[in-house]
Amino acid sequence: MNISIIGTGYVGLITGAGLAEKGHQVTCVDISKEKVKLINERTPPIYEKGLKELLVKVVPSKLKATTNFKAAVLNSDATFICVGTPSRKRGSINLDQIKKASQEIGIALKRKKGKHYIIVKSTVVPGTMQETVIPQIEKHSGKKYPNGFGAVSCPEFLREGSALEDFRNPDRIVIGSNDNDSIKAAEEIFKKFEAPIIRTSFKEAEMIKYASNAFLATKLSFINEIGNICKKMSINTNKVAEAVGLDHRIGRKFFKSGIGFGGSCFPKDVQALIYKATEHGYHPRLLRSVLDVNRDQPIKLLELLDENDKFNNDKIAILGLTFKAGTDDIRESPSLSIIKELLLDDKELIIFDPVAVNKVKKLFPHLKYASSAQEAVDSADVALILTEWPEFKDVDYKEKLVIDGKNIFDGKRPKNYQGVCW
Ligand code: UDX
Repeated sequence: MNISIIGTGYVGLITGAGLAEKGHQVTCVDISKEKVKLINERTPPIYEKGLKELLVKVVPSKLKATTNFKAAVLNSDATFICVGTPSRKRGSINLDQIKKASQEIGIALKRKKGKHYIIVKSTVVPGTMQETVIPQIEKHSGKKYPNGFGAVSCPEFLREGSALEDFRNPDRIVIGSNDNDSIKAAEEIFKKFEAPIIRTSFKEAEMIKYASNAFLATKLSFINEIGNICKKMSINTNKVAEAVGLDHRIGRKFFKSGIGFGGSCFPKDVQALIYKATEHGYHPRLLRSVLDVNRDQPIKLLELLDENDKFNNDKIAILGLTFKAGTDDIRESPSLSIIKELLLDDKELIIFDPVAVNKVKKLFPHLKYASSAQEAVDSADVALILTEWPEFKDVDYKEKLVIDGKNIFDGKRPKNYQGVCW
């Protein structure tokens, strides 16, 4: 099929490259000339495992990028909306980019003959397809859903760092629509994937994404809370998590305690779900607690630093800036909140990260940046491990205090070691 993709962020570019790999003819659209140029030169604008190799394979024979929105829509059979849905100040979701993309699709469709399919992959609160996307397209195209154009809600579940692998091997594909032509078109697009297809309504599909992320975030705050209790009682949290996780109803995955979750999805999506529920008159206490526990997790690490005051702690090595390993994404990273707190305390920081230093230098240009983890540790009194990059296991920490926020050591630990909640 000929497919256009609006937005070349994590979701858009992975979806585009992944569908091109399956044989579809893909055009990625972005307003950024710089991103478009990079993609056409086969250089990913984001750091993602395997993406460079895949772009080399599919650009330009199966995938091209352009800033020409209208031409991309007109020359395709289906358009994926993959634009950002950031949070507003109080946690509600900002749908401006969704609205704008829908308007522009509508304007392009005015001139198009034949049925075109709109597939929303951006994370949007339940009701967005019916209240925003379809009405905007109808208004600007003069056509009516479902005869004039089709629509499908098809949430993504990609993890940064393993996004391509997740795209190639999904646990399920959700196709939310009440129009048979649209369901058939989406099934055609995904026919080469071996995954159960779940057919739903628009709203169910939109909610499935929020419920999945809210559950995973809850699982993490749960094990972090158990970890905090274990730490107070000198109980080995990892042993507890291992045995509890072996109950197949619970599962061992996503059960590692630490300084809390970050990233572009969990904090934003849980907030947006709370906001939406509250608008509908329901106050979700459990989800609020999930965010409360998560907000306090980095503070647990700072408390440990204060408690271990027999070690000199004026010079601190910060190991890791991203919210997890395998990505250069620093959005909502607990590492950044820890850095801000330490700077308020006038600590001298020596920072190392294998991929994200340039991004953080823009925020904190005056800090010291080391060229390796070992160099950072050697020039500091204390080391804080804030991202689970495997190389941090191989550093020689000597007699220095090491506070691990990410539970990285399976076997031998540094001599003066403290885990944040184990
Ligand atoms: C998440 C969802 O997993 C994905 O399905 C959705 O589409 C987008 O949001 P991502 O944000 O890339 O993906 O990261 P993920 O691997 O899920 O990790 C989220 C956070 O939880 C990270 O900060 C990570 O370090 C933390 N985490 C994860 C733990 O603290 N312990 C764990 O056991 C697993």
